[in-house]
Amino acid sequence: MKPKKKRTRRIGLLTSGGDCAGLNAVIRAVVRRAVDGHGWDVIGIRKGTHGLLARPVEAEELKPGADDASLLRLGGTILGTTNKGDPFAFPMPDGSVKDRSREIVEGFHALDLDALIGVGGDGSLAILARLAQQGDIPFVGIPKTIDNDVARTERAVGFATAVATATEALDRLQPTAASHDRVMILEVMGRDAGHIAIAAGIAGGADVVLIPEIAWTLEAVSRHVTELRVVGRDFALVVVAEAAHPTGTDADALKQAGGIGHWLAAKLGATTGAETRVTVLGHVQRGGTPLAEDRLLGSLLGVHAVDLIAEGRTGRMVAWSNREVIDVPLEEVVGVPHVVDPNGPLVRTARGLGICLGDETEG
Ligand code: F6P
Repeated sequence: MKPKKKRTRRIGLLTSGGDCAGLNAVIRAVVRRAVDGHGWDVIGIRKGTHGLLARPVEAEELKPGADDASLLRLGGTILGTTNKGDPFAFPMPDGSVKDRSREIVEGFHALDLDALIGVGGDGSLAILARLAQQGDIPFVGIPKTIDNDVARTERAVGFATAVATATEALDRLQPTAASHDRVMILEVMGRDAGHIAIAAGIAGGADVVLIPEIAWTLEAVSRHVTELRVVGRDFALVVVAEAAHPTGTDADALKQAGGIGHWLAAKLGATTGAETRVTVLGHVQRGGTPLAEDRLLGSLLGVHAVDLIAEGRTGRMVAWSNREVIDVPLEEVVGVPHVVDPNGPLVRTARGLGICLGDETEG
C-alpha cells in the first residue's frame, strides 16, 4: 500500500539574505493565509538559517493580529535575517569552514514542521533549495531583493522601493548640481546587476548611467559631459551601479579609490575640469517605508506560496510574470543570473532618451 501523504498542519517561515522593504508584507500574507485560510500553525524562524543552527532553535509562533496591517508599513523584517554564513561552508571562529547543513535540517525537524517557506534573493534561495533537497523538506521560495536579480520573475519584493529611493536621491541632487555647476555622481547598489541604476537613471533624468552589463569607458563618459557643457548645460547627473567597471581599469584601482563612484569623480574631474561630488546611497535603498508596489507584490506572492503548499506543489518559487502570479521549479531559478538585458526595453529607452551609457553606441 502506498504510504499516505502527511497532512500539512504546521509550516516554518524565514527571511534570508539582505533585508528590503516589503518583507513584513510577505510575512503578514503568509500568516493570514496559512492560519485563517488553511487552519495551520506558522512558526517564524529567527535570523534566516541562523535560527535553525541555534540550540534551542530560535523560532516563535506567528498569528494574524487585528492590527497586523501595521506590518505593511514597516521596513526591514520582524523575523530578522542574515546574509552571512553559507551553511555548506560556514566560517568557524578558528578560521576554518565547516559544512553545517545537517544541523540546519535537524533544526527544521526539531520544530516538527511539515513545510518551509523561505523569502530570499538568488543566493539565499540557492542555499535553501539545496538544504530542502538534502533534508527532504517541502519548500517554497519567495523572491525578494533590491537587486532584482532573481531569474524567472519580473520583480522581486523590495526592488520598487529601492528604485524610488534612488530616484528621489536624483531629485534632490539635481537642484544642487544645477546651482553649483557640478557633476553629481550617484553610486547605487545592485550587486552584479544594474537594474536599480538603469531604472532610477531613467526615472530621475540622469545624463549618464553606467551598469555592469554594458562595457563603458571613461573617455565616452568624459566626452558626453563635455558635450553637455557645449550646449549650455553646466551640470550633469551620473548614476553608476556599484559593480559597473570601466574597460581597461583593474579592480584594485577602484578599490583603492573607495569604489567606483569615488574613482569616477576623481577621473571625471581630471578629464573634464568639472567640479564633481559623490553620493554613495548604500543601505538607504534597503530601508524605509515600503512602496505600495512592494506591499502588493509581497501580499500576492505570500498568499500564493501558502496555497502551493496546500496543493502539495513544493520545490517551486512563486513569481510575478506578465501581470500574473505564477510559480516555477526552483531548478529554473537557482544559479541562473537575471541581469539587465543590453538589448531590452530599459536600455533601448535610455538610448532613445539620449542617456549616455558610456559605450560608443549612439542613440
Ligand atoms: O543584495 C542586496 C545588497 O544590498 C546589494 O545590493 C549589496 O551589494 C549588498 O547587499 C550589501 O550587503 P551588506 O548589507 O552586507 O553590506
